[in-house]
Amino acid sequence: MSNDGINQNRRRVLTALTSVVGAAGAVGAAVPFIGSWHPSAKAKAAGAPVEINISNIQPGQMVTVEWRGKPVYVVRRTKEALDNLTVVQSRLRDPESTNSDQPTYAANATRAIKDEYLVLLGLCTHLGCAPKYQPEVGAKDVGDADWLGGFFCPCHGSKFDLAGRVFTGVPAPKNLAVPPYKYVSDDVIIVGEDQEA
Ligand code: FES
Repeated sequence: MSNDGINQNRRRVLTALTSVVGAAGAVGAAVPFIGSWHPSAKAKAAGAPVEINISNIQPGQMVTVEWRGKPVYVVRRTKEALDNLTVVQSRLRDPESTNSDQPTYAANATRAIKDEYLVLLGLCTHLGCAPKYQPEVGAKDVGDADWLGGFFCPCHGSKFDLAGRVFTGVPAPKNLAVPPYKYVSDDVIIVGEDQEA
């Protein structure tokens, strides 16, 4: 190899080293910026309440928010969905929610403070997968000819109605849990704080 060739090789190595240092510098500069996000991330992980504006949720629609690192489902139920809660009753393991987890103000027929809005922890009570929202009557994915809408866990096939109540004959032992929440106005709820009695 000629001297010229050696020098060119050295130059390439030096250029490569400079780019690595440059990249490390960029990461270093980014850290304080990322660091400034941490208080809110930490606050969330520690359980800071989460405010949700529900005014844009359409009838039949579900939105998901994160609280304490867990998914919280908020569903605006239609009148049909509410009517169907009594129709599925005989197929449920715990229709009165006596062995399930919910605050006292949601221990009622619709498992909610206001019937129209369902608030649930989106964690299957079997092994913690996130059940899928399947609101359509007869939804094909569920494999249940009498399906009237609810939640279907893709992991081991647990089914829940549109109040998060578990069906019989599936692995999940309990209804989906209702987290603490309260209304601060007609349009805004806070998850993580209890409604006063
Ligand atoms: S985790 Fe949902 S059925 Fe097993």
